[in-house]
Amino acid sequence: MKVDLEVLCHDVVELAREVGIFIKVEESKVNQQDIETKSLNSLVSYVDKTAEESIVKDLSAFLPEAGFIAEEGTSTKIGKEYNWIIDPLDGTTNFLHGIPTYSVSIALKQGDDIVLGVVYEVNRDECFYAWKGSPAFLNGNKITVSKTAQLSDSLIATGFPYYDYHKSDEYFDLLKDLAKSTRGIRRIGSAAVDLVYTACGRFDAFFEYSLHAWDVAAGAFIVQQAGGVISDFSSEDNWLFGKEIVAVNPNLQTEFGTLVKQHLAS
Ligand code: IPD
Ligand code: CA
Ligand code: CA
Repeated sequence: MKVDLEVLCHDVVELAREVGIFIKVEESKVNQQDIETKSLNSLVSYVDKTAEESIVKDLSAFLPEAGFIAEEGTSTKIGKEYNWIIDPLDGTTNFLHGIPTYSVSIALKQGDDIVLGVVYEVNRDECFYAWKGSPAFLNGNKITVSKTAQLSDSLIATGFPYYDYHKSDEYFDLLKDLAKSTRGIRRIGSAAVDLVYTACGRFDAFFEYSLHAWDVAAGAFIVQQAGGVISDFSSEDNWLFGKEIVAVNPNLQTEFGTLVKQHLAS
């Protein structure tokens, strides 16, 4: 079946916005009793699960042959050619603590390639998206990564280790270096938002380890379509399922990539 990715992308944008409205309405209703712990420091509530169910239902109607890689396990259907990669609520800890940065993240994978990505940052009403061959967009306007060429002019995003500490010493050594050599470091609590902020030039680079495919698929694709470079910690391509990611503008790629490699490559 021939898929019109542009049309599909706009449908997914609408869906992400609708689900975002549901999540926002629930923010004032969800309470301590609704919080479950999936594993160390990994929280979830009915909001994540309900959001994912409605995403899976609508995406199944958009593209019946596609399967799903979805964080809350709503569907385990495997698609032959197409698979959606979904994080219904990226930034659950923020959401449950009343901190406003969280997002809906949806990507479509065809074979081994991501061909569509949508990240909706709910509280800023900012929808970032791209499809194969398109530029990257934010609410209808084209975006590109920053042109920053000096690390000393850069703002870096990351996520601190909070359940997997096997590289935490090396990680915090790198942070120490970056704290001294950049304008600053931010940890805003949604990897998908970190990535799309890199796509539109708010951040110059982002790195984190122990992320899952649903945290990064849509955002990383949008960074690439915005002219950025995505890799793992060894400057190779194993970032989607490899649990380590670097996103950076091309001007900083060598300097930043080398620093990350020196500290964190296995
Ligand atoms: C988390 C966020 C966070 C990152 C975590 C992710 P979740 O996703 O993206 O920024 O540091 O590793 O698990 O659990 O809120 O969907
Ligand atoms: Ca996530
Ligand atoms: Ca999530």
